[in-house]
Amino acid sequence: MSNGRLSHLLKGVWMLWLWQAVFVAGTASKLWEVPTASLTSSSNLSDSLWEQDCQYHHLQDRVTTTADIPPRLDGTWVSTRCEVRPGPEFITRSYTFHPSRHFQALQHYYTDSSCEDPAYSLMIRGKLRLRQASWITRGAIEAEHHLSKVSIVVHSLAAKQRLASMLPPTCVGLTLGRVLQGKPYELYNTRAGRGCLEALGFSMMEMGLIRVETRHHGHGGKVQELLLGDIHTDWTQRSQYRPTGYQQPLQNAMHHIHPCPVCALVYRSSEQRPPVLPRSLAAPLSLTGRWASHRCETRPNILFLTRDFTFDPDQHAWQGVYRHYSDPACSQPTFTLRASGHYAQGKPSAKVSGATEFVFKVTQVRVTALEEPTAKLLNGTRPGKCGRAGGWEVGVEQDLTPTDGCTLLGIKLPHKEYELFKIELDHRKHPLLFIGERPTDGSSPDRPQRRPTSFQAPMGHCSGGDTQPSHRYFNSKQVQLAASGTERLAQLVLLVLGSVLCSWICGY
Ligand SMILES: *[C@@H]1O[C@H](CO)[C@@H](O)[C@H](O)[C@H]1NC(C)=O
Ligand SMILES: *[C@@H]1O[C@H](CO)[C@@H](O)[C@H](O)[C@H]1NC(C)=O
Repeated sequence: MSNGRLSHLLKGVWMLWLWQAVFVAGTASKLWEVPTASLTSSSNLSDSLWEQDCQYHHLQDRVTTTADIPPRLDGTWVSTRCEVRPGPEFITRSYTFHPSRHFQALQHYYTDSSCEDPAYSLMIRGKLRLRQASWITRGAIEAEHHLSKVSIVVHSLAAKQRLASMLPPTCVGLTLGRVLQGKPYELYNTRAGRGCLEALGFSMMEMGLIRVETRHHGHGGKVQELLLGDIHTDWTQRSQYRPTGYQQPLQNAMHHIHPCPVCALVYRSSEQRPPVLPRSLAAPLSLTGRWASHRCETRPNILFLTRDFTFDPDQHAWQGVYRHYSDPACSQPTFTLRASGHYAQGKPSAKVSGATEFVFKVTQVRVTALEEPTAKLLNGTRPGKCGRAGGWEVGVEQDLTPTDGCTLLGIKLPHKEYELFKIELDHRKHPLLFIGERPTDGSSPDRPQRRPTSFQAPMGHCSGGDTQPSHRYFNSKQVQLAASGTERLAQLVLLVLGSVLCSWICGY
């Protein structure tokens, strides 16, 4: 399909979306209500579809999730585990927001993937101004921050040597040769340039995109989570990148999941006393069975989805179901992708200890359009390019294998990806599966050098009697199972959509 025609088709969807958004904008008086159609300040996310799809959720209390718009940030928000950022970087965070809009963000960096060996801590002070609802990432608020001061405390000699190889010889109050361990030094203030921060790969661009979700549990308890913008997977892009997805959420120090030993350690920490986390419970990497998203996930470039994977290690087979939605509550489905193929487990990762390398092969993808605009879009593709031309209908699944994928969706079959997996146990000792983070630019980790170094939101194991592939996902003749290649496609679609949006807005 020619680019012109493609963008014409995609423009159709965008025009529709923009029309709706503009319509809402026109009728709503507050900035916060753009572009969500909801006129209440709190949206109800409780009746999400994916909850019905995995036993894991049935074991939990009935939970209602709300998102406050604008978000209430006051208080302290802490990491719930050792976080892995692209690079990899291992970090714990404790961010405090004051009613005066000032914030103090404490970041502890470690040399190891269990956050047992602190390298250095940063104390970041600044001011945050909430701007408006995001047009790109629905459900999020855009914000601007202003840094007033960044201090560093170095915790070990090894860290000092490593910093010396990254930083210029002098940074404001810091001359590395004379640095004492455990003593704070100024790394940045408003009179200084950002050279030293950039040399560290430091940026607070994550503050550019904010969402607060509150989960109300049946027994009256609540858990509040702060979602901040994602970190670009390409190191060279991270200080300029305006986030459109989220990183792992922080939890409110007063309203977090119990028990959370990590929360308490991080909450009590200071730049001079970094939290040393207990060794994470080693979990053997057993993929057998079914895994599903805990929440409606947001990907960079306007993508809301839930994932549902099944692995059959005996057959080296997998299947991944990606349900896509147009809203941050995952209540309005747009299309579902069902991908399947084979995988091979590789060696333990040298970069992220505790994680394991994999190679995935996607051999089959099936797509179901779940709303009219998507069905029309796919229906308009040229014969032989995307399933059966003219055969797309809402709710009817099409196999893309005969057409070797779908040009419009950016799917090419067969397709190979280099992956990074790890399994950790949560506070209830239930396994969590972490799968590699997708490259932020929408490309595919199709070469070993592009293998991820960080992870997406974890998926929970579907326990109980539902560990066998259910008939809904596997028809009997097809033992081939299913994983992750399709996310790439979805990202690609959205990247294309994103650039079309730009050509639409930027070019007219
Ligand atoms: C959300 O749904 C729950 C249960 O369905 C209801 O009790 C609550 O009032 C709803 N909240 C909002 C803000 O709509
Ligand atoms: C898809 O195309 C066929 C043939 O042109 C048409 O009959 C059908 O109504 C279309 N379906 C949709 C959902 O647009």
